Amino acid sequence: MKILPTIILFFIMLPISHAENKNSGVSLLSPQLQQLFSKEMIQLNQGMKEIMDAYISGQWDIIAPIAKKMEGSYVLRQNLTKSQMHELHSKLPKKFLKLDEEFHYYSGMLSHASEMKKTELIGFYFSKMSETCVSCHSIYATNKFPSFNSKVGSNKHHH
Ligand code: HEC
Repeated sequence: MKILPTIILFFIMLPISHAENKNSGVSLLSPQLQQLFSKEMIQLNQGMKEIMDAYISGQWDIIAPIAKKMEGSYVLRQNLTKSQMHELHSKLPKKFLKLDEEFHYYSGMLSHASEMKKTELIGFYFSKMSETCVSCHSIYATNKFPSFNSKVGSNKHHH
């Protein structure tokens, strides 16, 4: 019987791979996808800075196209090949994909709010959108941003 060792191995591996997923969603991807991902992240950061500049200077019409670009350009929505798309969805944890979805929701809402020139809503959705950057980084990008490691622990003690 060959099937029994396989089952046992499965139960041994399950918690291990699960624990690993927590920190290394992106590092499971192929080097090409990782590179694309990193490029996208740097563009998102650039977009946030441009939005901040436009926001504090009342240039609403500049925000909408940037927010729209951020909504559409992120790696999970880019023109990936079918197999790359499959790789993303099979390798990244569900929670990661959920945070990605939230990010897209808020960048879409930000773009609407700026089209309608609603100042408070622009501020609201800008901050909700930044929260999704932080939420995802504090779980999945602690290698890149190690200060999240200590913060997560200290928050628990203070609240
Ligand atoms: C769904 C998850 C997720 C969301 C949402 C997200 N990021 Fe990231 N980001 C990551 C991960 C994971 C890394 C680390 C990748 C690595 O380990 O190389 C990262 C890395 C980065 C980096 C460093 C890139 C590099 O290679 O130098 C920047 C800058 C960045 N993110 C900006 C942002 C900004 C700004 C937002 C929000 C507007 C954002 N990210 C939203 C997951 C996310």
